[in-house]
Amino acid sequence: MSPTAMGDEFHLLIVDDEPNIRSGLAKGLDKLVDRIETAGSVNEALDKFESGEYQLVIADVRLPGDRSGLELVSLLQQRKPGTTTILITAHGTVETAVEAMRRGAFDFITKPIDLNLIREQVAKAVDHHRLQSENRELKDRLAEAGEVAGIVGSCRALQDVLTQIRQVADTDATVLIHGESGTGKELIARAIHDLSDRSTGPFIAVNLGALPETLLESELFGHEKGSFTGASRRKPGCFEQSTGGTLFLDEITEIPAKSQVDLLRVLETGQYTRVGGEEAMESDARIVSATNRDIPQLVEDGTFREDLYYRLNIVPIEVPPLRQRREDIPLLADHFLTHFCKRHRREEKLIDPNAMEILCRSSWPGNVRQLRNVIERLVVTVPRTEISPNDLPAELAGKQSAPPSAAPVQSLAEVAEAAEKEAIEAALAANDFHREQTAKALGVSVRTLHYKMNRYGLH
Ligand SMILES: Nc1ncnc2c1ncn2[C@@H]1O[C@H](COP(=O)(O)OP(=O)(O)OP(=O)(O)O)[C@@H](O)[C@H]1O
Ligand SMILES: [Mg+2]
Repeated sequence: MSPTAMGDEFHLLIVDDEPNIRSGLAKGLDKLVDRIETAGSVNEALDKFESGEYQLVIADVRLPGDRSGLELVSLLQQRKPGTTTILITAHGTVETAVEAMRRGAFDFITKPIDLNLIREQVAKAVDHHRLQSENRELKDRLAEAGEVAGIVGSCRALQDVLTQIRQVADTDATVLIHGESGTGKELIARAIHDLSDRSTGPFIAVNLGALPETLLESELFGHEKGSFTGASRRKPGCFEQSTGGTLFLDEITEIPAKSQVDLLRVLETGQYTRVGGEEAMESDARIVSATNRDIPQLVEDGTFREDLYYRLNIVPIEVPPLRQRREDIPLLADHFLTHFCKRHRREEKLIDPNAMEILCRSSWPGNVRQLRNVIERLVVTVPRTEISPNDLPAELAGKQSAPPSAAPVQSLAEVAEAAEKEAIEAALAANDFHREQTAKALGVSVRTLHYKMNRYGLH
């Protein structure tokens, strides 16, 4: 085998002037790594280092000649930054240890060498190396997947969504995006705008669930001066503001019946009038709307106009919940990790395989938004560079598959209440206890949420 590490191989270089220590260590560590080479001096070590690739160097601090193991650490760092080194010394003073760490040594061990201890350290280095190369692989996949306008994900379902986005972007067709809360609907609406030939125009987002009915019309269509008390000047509405751009109507189902008629009229005729105005205005906006509710059901219930639904739904885009695209969780987690480490000026962190497995298995009721929030919290609160299962919030570790309960038979009402309570708890946690967002995610009003929280004693 050539001394060049191929792919994921782990090669160790042992540098000590005592042949007994070299052979003893080589024998003791043989099983842990793929290949071991030895050197008796700094120069010999540098020669080996020139011609081969080593993931770990174990070196004595005291070496023959005028260069010590400490200097070797610095030289190796210059040649290949990030090379892991474990230093051995008989003079295990705190100062040498601190100096070694400062120069980039990974660990420190004192003579007489405890073989078990050094085995542990080597195993740790091998794990760390593996984690790093996995992380690199993830980064490559991320680059390969080539995020479209900030949308990360390589799974089939998301790739289909991206294809749809590209297809509709340069048309003026209305798009209706459906998906659970936090799945990325607004991100997708923006991507459609950014990839369209309207991208230099404005992107105007209006949340129909957040506006009181009395203000909605004036917000959408604008008003003339004096058209109602407080209308002290003429104000352009969202339609007017999004001329040449995209109008994003979020939570479209929250639009009151009266405004549904007005909206339908704009979509059909391209015309509208300002509140209190006479003049017919031409709308040029491209309409993208979004909802987390089941509109066909609302149509059936008679609360949403069928003709409006068809007008809005020329191109439907369905965004799957995160639990249906778990293969993207590592990509997303890594993307947010890098993003927040930069944003919060923290050194780059890694998620260890066990923690990543928990992330991949969790149910994520709050979808990508919840994952994003969890990762941001970890970046801020975990002081170490490796994130392990213990760091994860309890709500993730706990809520996987609840064991079947051996509880006595319950009435249907009790079962429904227990399920409702659990859903509210999960949604509160997923939305960082933000009540408006939680209510939105659950598709109920804030008042209903408060009522239920009181009822179930959730605070
Ligand atoms: N595929 C993705 N790649 C990167 N970031 C994502 C992705 N999907 C969602 N996000 C991020 O997750 C957060 C929530 O996304 P967004 O606001 O678009 O969700 P939403 O579907 O509009 O939710 P809601 O229904 O609650 O309004 C945002 O910070 C967004 O940038
Ligand atoms: Mg949204």
